[in-house]
Amino acid sequence: MFELKSYLESRRDLFEKKLDALLNIPSSGSGRLLSAMRYSLLSGGKRLRPILCFAAAEAVGGSPSQCMTTACALEMIHTYSLIHDDLPAMDDDNLRRGMPTCHKAFDEASAILAGDGLLTLALYFLSSPSHWDSSDPALNLTLISLISHAAGQQGMIEGQMLDMESQGKNLSLDELEQLHRLKTGAMITVSIRCGAMLAGANSHQIQSLENYAAHIGLAFQVADDILNVTGNSALMGKATGTDDKLNKATYPSLLGLEPARAFARELVDKSLRELEPFDAKADPLRSIALYIIERNR
Ligand code: IPE
Ligand code: IPE
Ligand code: MG
Ligand code: MG
Repeated sequence: MFELKSYLESRRDLFEKKLDALLNIPSSGSGRLLSAMRYSLLSGGKRLRPILCFAAAEAVGGSPSQCMTTACALEMIHTYSLIHDDLPAMDDDNLRRGMPTCHKAFDEASAILAGDGLLTLALYFLSSPSHWDSSDPALNLTLISLISHAAGQQGMIEGQMLDMESQGKNLSLDELEQLHRLKTGAMITVSIRCGAMLAGANSHQIQSLENYAAHIGLAFQVADDILNVTGNSALMGKATGTDDKLNKATYPSLLGLEPARAFARELVDKSLRELEPFDAKADPLRSIALYIIERNR
């Protein structure tokens, strides 16, 4: 019987070691920039995107070692997005991963630069042959293109822009879904796609895994919206009630709590149907789908 808790622990352990090693780099300046980058990156977090990358590789018979640099780069980009998301000009949050946000622990300029540093460092590792996950240069180039597409103006950053523009506005359900798919779904989907591609998935497998990812990516942000209303701030390591305060468009605000929960469950059911062609090696992905809506942090 598959045990998610020990799976998550073992994959997180592997991942944290590699991440720490990659961030063990020299500093040409005072060390403040690297300290701010390490502060936010090595501060816990669920590590969901790297774990999804591993689990996708495993679902098609591969292993985490085949996508380790890519997993680290994905987490660097995710962490950069959180540092900037917490800034006063955006969500103005003081608590992240159970600690003061980067701009509170350092200062705003350092937090902006730490974010910039993490994004560019991710692209540096992805584009450096000595760090490549694959010996196929064309595949590495494809990964860089997919990840930068998902992280940028056609993905996460456009989602963040829509999120900022949504404050105080009444969005339609379609508009909110588009916002969530860009803001959160794009990075989750690309994490899964990269893991699958590095493990040699065929085109049918990639398509099914991408469909799975689109459903859980949206479900993940719906759950994040629900936790912002009902969650325990101490457990989550970040403030709650903030979406309402900033007048953000969210699933609970548009649909109500119970319908938002039902919608997230429906998405997870759909994601599980996409995994039907896969054998027990996809059990981690199956369990993670359920965890995404049952989590309390
Ligand atoms: C938080 O992401 C921001 C969203 C996209 C909802 P996570 O919930 O994955 O945050 P960490 O990485 O565990 O801190
Ligand atoms: C953060 O989204 C998403 C990104 C940084 C891309 P939210 O603002 O909804 O997430 P939390 O609640 O601060 O973690
Ligand atoms: Mg935000
Ligand atoms: Mg936020």
